[in-house]
Amino acid sequence: MKTIIYYGSTTGTCEALAGRIADALGGADVRNVTELDARATEYDLIVLGTSTWGIGDMQDDWFDGVNKLKGLNLSGKKIAVFGVGDADSYPDSFCGGMKGLYDAALQAGADVLPGVDAGEYGAVSSDAIVNGAFVGLALDETNAPDKTESRISSWVASLKQ
Ligand SMILES: Cc1cc2nc3c(=O)[nH]c(=O)nc-3n(C[C@H](O)[C@H](O)[C@H](O)COP(=O)(O)O)c2cc1C
Repeated sequence: MKTIIYYGSTTGTCEALAGRIADALGGADVRNVTELDARATEYDLIVLGTSTWGIGDMQDDWFDGVNKLKGLNLSGKKIAVFGVGDADSYPDSFCGGMKGLYDAALQAGADVLPGVDAGEYGAVSSDAIVNGAFVGLALDETNAPDKTESRISSWVASLKQ
């Protein structure tokens, strides 16, 4: 599957994770969300990643990014979402930034692939949890970097199905 990953990252964490996810997928183009445009529609799978800022907000560059995304015709395209946050400092908005990306992808007509069960993350809540599951893959490089590799590989395996 021809895949592109767009990430929004303020201090580089989400950017680094985008690279690791590209590797786990066996290769993908990786771009900053500031470069999002109609070329996205040339790909079979579009992966969207954001860190969370404020209280549950998307990373800053995504505010323009989601508007661009909503303007594209993504019907029939597969989209997957991932996020990075800090569950210990922000347990009530953990990875909440993913929700804005998820909503924009649905609005653009995309087929959004399943996220991960929230039960494994302990006592966290967030707008990005819908019916007990995150809308994408939730990662925490601050408190659980040791879990990142296995979280990425099981999520990527589920995407490949
Ligand atoms: C001011 C501030 C607000 C934050 N708000 C949240 C939040 O609401 N939820 C969350 O899960 N993480 C939050 N974080 C944690 C960041 O998402 C986390 O540090 C992330 O790894 C940053 O990734 P980046 O360098 O790619 O932007 C916040 C961090 C800061 C400094």
